[in-house]
Amino acid sequence: MPRLDARLKLVAAEIRGKIHADIGSDHGHLLAALLSADRIERGIAVENKLQPYRNSSATLERLNAEVRLGDGMDVIEKNEIDSLSICGMGGQSIVRILSEHPNRLPKQIVLQPNKAIASVRQWARDNGYWLTDEKCTGIKRRFEVLVFSRFGPPHDPVYQKLNEVGLDEPIGLMFGPWFLLRKDERLLQRLAEEQRYLQSKQNLTQTSRARVETIRRLLSSDHFLSR
Ligand SMILES: C[S@@+](CC[C@H](N)C(=O)[O-])C[C@H]1O[C@@H](n2cnc3c(N)ncnc32)[C@H](O)[C@@H]1O
Repeated sequence: MPRLDARLKLVAAEIRGKIHADIGSDHGHLLAALLSADRIERGIAVENKLQPYRNSSATLERLNAEVRLGDGMDVIEKNEIDSLSICGMGGQSIVRILSEHPNRLPKQIVLQPNKAIASVRQWARDNGYWLTDEKCTGIKRRFEVLVFSRFGPPHDPVYQKLNEVGLDEPIGLMFGPWFLLRKDERLLQRLAEEQRYLQSKQNLTQTSRARVETIRRLLSSDHFLSR
């Protein structure tokens, strides 16, 4: 049985569906671990490239899983799955995949974007998915795992909660509303390190200057100072 790395372990721990699809399955390890542990009844792996498709097929051969060659949700039917994961891709690719067939998406979605994480939170915020939890691996090798559940409008109440502690929605989308509400130590350490690093550089770009200012505002907010 393939062992999952810390990142995929976090993802696996959040999956609740009986029939689960993993888009961009690559080696197929996530579904193999979920099926072997009886955490799901059936798995559907989706790959758009031939070699990873073959790798997933080999890993999942004797398990209750199907491997499909295709682009994202193109090869998933409406009402076919209870939950969905997309891991190890950039946020923009994830948002594109989610946006192509909105009526095929299941109630639970677990995402692990490598970058452009704010765009994933924004997509969910605009499409009736509430961020029910967010987790992360270490400080230097930080991967964020976002857990969403579809509730439809009204909007995700977590951003209202954030407002009540004096932090606005753009900051929540950027750094993660639950990490902020919990005053997550690892996020704070990472931000303090990033602040030190950016301040030590000369000739910062306008974007970096704006980022330093946002981090400074956040770390000196009443919410964080009162911890
Ligand atoms: C970096 S790997 C991540 C693999 C695995 N999910 C993980 O987190 O370890 C991304 C995988 O997604 C696949 N992929 C990228 N875009 C895809 C799409 N639109 N539909 C299906 N698979 C896709 C790639 O072929 C690649 O195998």
